[in-house]
Amino acid sequence: MLKQVFPYGEKDSPLEGTYLDLNLHKQASAGDVFIYANYITSLDGRIALYDEDLGEYAVPKSIANGRDWRLYQELAGQADIMLTSARYFRQLEKGKAQDLLPVGSGEKYVDIKRWRKKQGLKAQPDVMILSNSLDIPLAALEKVQDRKVIVCTGSTDQAKIGSLEQAGVQVIRVMSSMVETSRDPSASPRGYSLASQFTLSLRVTGKFVRQTLIDLKYRSAYLIAGPEVHATLLKNDCINELFLSTYFALVGGKKISTLLDADLPQAKTLKLLSSYLDTQENQMFQRFQYV
Ligand SMILES: NC(=O)c1ccc[n+]([C@@H]2O[C@H](COP(=O)([O-])OP(=O)(O)OC[C@H]3O[C@@H](n4cnc5c(N)ncnc54)[C@H](OP(=O)(O)O)[C@@H]3O)[C@@H](O)[C@H]2O)c1
Repeated sequence: MLKQVFPYGEKDSPLEGTYLDLNLHKQASAGDVFIYANYITSLDGRIALYDEDLGEYAVPKSIANGRDWRLYQELAGQADIMLTSARYFRQLEKGKAQDLLPVGSGEKYVDIKRWRKKQGLKAQPDVMILSNSLDIPLAALEKVQDRKVIVCTGSTDQAKIGSLEQAGVQVIRVMSSMVETSRDPSASPRGYSLASQFTLSLRVTGKFVRQTLIDLKYRSAYLIAGPEVHATLLKNDCINELFLSTYFALVGGKKISTLLDADLPQAKTLKLLSSYLDTQENQMFQRFQYV
């Protein structure tokens, strides 16, 4: 059971259904998209640790658990599209990703699939991948061939773009108007050094992702990538809500990932919307609004 601790005074409730009825796919106002992120973290703020055996960062086994995964699936159930990273697909190809993108198969998630159908949503959310390297293994993409796959990139590598398009992927490149120019204020009176005049940062911005989702008529987008994609969207204030599961364990480690992997101009404040204590596992589920 879950014990609701905020808002106060609610009775205990089963885990199943806790997030499914939030109707996140109906939150966006007309002509907008509702973007929400979800992480599980340890008490010392780790979302991933470097695993020497895997040779990759991975969610610590000591905090990953089926009850959190159920809520992860419920959030996926309400998404038109999932936002993820190329690294996820590189891990997926090597069999090192946490799981195939939801909504998961099997009896456990059949109710979520039924719910999606009833809501008039597609069987599976589409997938948007952020990547500048465009190193996205085609074999891993086959695992999501039942949905539309979009890649947002700053790359101009025609060979890689061509092979992705041949595999049925829609590749959307950042436009120059969206690109930030590197500045070196000390270099010239106009604030640009000779080198930086020609140095365009072609990284995908949060603004670009959000506008692309709106242009493509998506209404709800579920961010399941790690700290870099999270920071990309957060820097442009492009995320509406954060679902955070905190597992009550200290996992330590020096090669770690946290929720964010970037400097922010200032601390970001979040408003708590709900908080549940999981009496069966040693964890808490919280929902925040980015303000
Ligand atoms: N505990 C949790 O809840 C949780 C949730 C999510 C992830 N994780 C873990 O965190 C670790 C990292 O996950 P992740 O790889 O998805 O992390 P990430 O740091 O968000 O993604 C990194 C990759 O995304 C692409 N990327 C990010 N921002 C970009 C931008 N602005 N423009 C273009 N491309 C951009 C780059 O791909 P290219 O290299 O192709 O350019 C980059 O290598 C993994 O071990 C994962 O298991 C944990």
